[in-house]
Amino acid sequence: MKNIDNKEEFLFGGATASYQCEGAWNEDGKAESMWDVYLHKNNYENGDVASDHYHRYKEDIRMMKEGGQNAYRFSIAWPRIIKNLEGEVNEAGIKHYIDVLDECHMQGIEPLVTLYHWDLPQYLEDIGGWLNPATADAFVHYAEVCYKAFDGKINLWTTFNEPKWFTHCGYMAGNYPPEHHNPQEYIQCCYNVMVAHAKAVDLFRKENIKGKIGIVMSTEPMYPIDDKPETLQAVRNADNYANNWVCDPACKGEFPKDMVEKIRSQGFDLSFVKKEDLDVIAKNRVDFLGCNYYGPVFVKANEEGDTCFVTNNSGTRFKGKVINRIKDWYEYTKNPDLPTTAWGTQTYPKGIYELLMNYWERYHTPLYITENGIGLYEDIAPDRIEDDQRIDYMDSHIKEIIHAKNDGVDVRGYFAWSPFDLYSWKNGCEKRYGLIGIDFENGCVRKPKKSYYWYKEAIEKEWK
Ligand code: NOJ
Repeated sequence: MKNIDNKEEFLFGGATASYQCEGAWNEDGKAESMWDVYLHKNNYENGDVASDHYHRYKEDIRMMKEGGQNAYRFSIAWPRIIKNLEGEVNEAGIKHYIDVLDECHMQGIEPLVTLYHWDLPQYLEDIGGWLNPATADAFVHYAEVCYKAFDGKINLWTTFNEPKWFTHCGYMAGNYPPEHHNPQEYIQCCYNVMVAHAKAVDLFRKENIKGKIGIVMSTEPMYPIDDKPETLQAVRNADNYANNWVCDPACKGEFPKDMVEKIRSQGFDLSFVKKEDLDVIAKNRVDFLGCNYYGPVFVKANEEGDTCFVTNNSGTRFKGKVINRIKDWYEYTKNPDLPTTAWGTQTYPKGIYELLMNYWERYHTPLYITENGIGLYEDIAPDRIEDDQRIDYMDSHIKEIIHAKNDGVDVRGYFAWSPFDLYSWKNGCEKRYGLIGIDFENGCVRKPKKSYYWYKEAIEKEWK
């Protein structure tokens, strides 16, 4: 394995998530995940086959290597590893990931592994999911099984991917399972997730597992739309809501005090908070922070209207207005001067520089860009897929990362989302992020896009 403390060894790779690429949803003893059940029940587009990575991981990892990459971020599917509420281990699941990890090492690819990228086993959702502290304990058991099974094969572990998104979408916006709209529940879930994270880090250290452990966050840099004092306060509120409740406990060992005070003053019940949990959080800061960055967020004060979230799962085909507003906290808005993608993301490469400078100053924790990329509508029928928009996006962002590194930030890697097309949750397979196209309709044939060759050349010639 490579020496990840060697700061010269910058990682360039791609990132995926188990549910979004593996397929094989009911093979080799895998239990159902909450996404299997939710999507089947509602007859929504699902990841039953996705990119068929479960069966084609060797081809995919080989293509990463041939594409000049030296790292691969992927997640382990909890329902493949633990069969039931009793915590029984599925040996076939363990074997699968040993094979994937061995393949990575054979190809000289450094794995960065996420334990939880949203595919909660349904048997845990049935007992209340993240609302139930028993799920946090089950997570620690699952983590322990993984630590022991894969110890020595993984240098870079992470507990959770983007705690803010799965809790927000599941319990506030209600566009992900279990489709609730309940701030009290949301607060409890967030707490349980951070306790699960800290206990898993604690165990990692107690058991002397090799390597480093961190967390991956959907870091959304918040910008005020004007300089009114109420706007600046709204930015702080939005930052607390979107980022700080994860990054502060993970990197500083405590929840933001002003956020806790605001929640309390608004009458939420915090009686579930336990001193022993806060102690575990305080003692277990991460070794590194993974930052996912797609674009900036512009914020204004919430002057009218109740809490409301209207999401967009169809890009420019969506005719309504996207809303993200929490009464008395903040409201998201757009910056008319920035370009917006066909899927509604505002792009601002400088934002990744500002994010890295800001997080380095705040936390002084080594950083990785664990996701960055652009979702496009793409026709992958032509022989050559000319995704120049993706090349421009990645090029401008990577230059800003190098800029931050040169300005003193300890940033150690970049992972493109995604190395190949995959299933994008409620946006389905229509929203493509891959450097390699996947013909989902025709046997999942792989077709490298122009960006795949560009990335290879840029890694080899420009950034070495
Ligand atoms: C964040 C998530 O980690 C991933 O699951 C998602 O598909 C991408 N970003 C793109 O939105």
